Amino acid sequence: PTQKDWLPGNLYQYQGFWLPSHYLQNILTCRNQFQPRQSDIFLVTLPKSGTTWLKAMVFALVNRTQYDPKSNQTQHPLVSNNPHELVPFLELEPRIDYNQIDSCPPPRLIATHLPLISLPESVKKSGCKIVYLCRNPKDTFVSLWHFTNKMRTEEMGSISIEETFESFCRGVNVCGPVWDHALGFWKESLENPERVLFLKYEELKEDPENHLRRIAEVIGCPISMEEESFDLVDQILELCSFDRLSNLEVNRIGKQPSGLNNSSFFRRGEVGDWKNHLTPQMALKLDEIIKEKLGDSGLAF
Ligand code: A3P
Repeated sequence: PTQKDWLPGNLYQYQGFWLPSHYLQNILTCRNQFQPRQSDIFLVTLPKSGTTWLKAMVFALVNRTQYDPKSNQTQHPLVSNNPHELVPFLELEPRIDYNQIDSCPPPRLIATHLPLISLPESVKKSGCKIVYLCRNPKDTFVSLWHFTNKMRTEEMGSISIEETFESFCRGVNVCGPVWDHALGFWKESLENPERVLFLKYEELKEDPENHLRRIAEVIGCPISMEEESFDLVDQILELCSFDRLSNLEVNRIGKQPSGLNNSSFFRRGEVGDWKNHLTPQMALKLDEIIKEKLGDSGLAF
């Protein structure tokens, strides 16, 4: 796969969602080769919803005994690795070697952008934990537009916000439509609240301490009284903060195996940046689509 495969013109509709061709091939590989375990923890997001942040926080939580998350701790894997190197994506085979994942001690952390319907049946039946993170679609869109342009080569030129917006409103973006992706996991979280945690980027930004505690509980490693007494939650949040991660050398100058700069995963990290990019008409249009699509599900942005 190349970065080009990720762009709107190269997506294919499968089970109602728009996927790059290598995701389609890899879904089949996953079905045949990936052996889920009940102890697995899946981190599910749409691209640009806070995947990098969630990967960092859950990695730090799960590995806190082995790696002290104190922010001055230079040996922590998050200081020398981009979070995407520490938590693989299920659908990015052949980058993921399933044998390697198999040999990880439990719990294994696995990320995916796949919609619920396209996850292998074996994963859904495994009883694994799922942390789903979504984001206000207007901010997701703006983040996606910037990211898409970073993925385009010079000869391809940049893509206009209007053109990208038009595709996004039709649901044509990686693993879109956004509303259907979120609804699938929203309903799953209502049916299985002990196993599926549904989070919003905005809520995480507003009250990160309590949401980190909730994540820790659902994934089966709650913060103990003793850990509370030495401010473990704050230490993890500091280690995984936008300022800390984005200023690390690995994230300033490092690259993904695909050639993409690690810095592409860190832009502003704020809520409401859409106001700087969308016209009032665009914002209204997307709001109306989202409202109609989410209907009376109980989910709103
Ligand atoms: P912006 O483009 O709005 O800045 P993903 O990780 O799913 O690709 O999402 C990327 C978005 O998350 C970007 O949003 C990026 O800046 C933001 N982000 C990355 N790391 C973050 C962190 N530690 N805290 C908050 N936001 C973060």
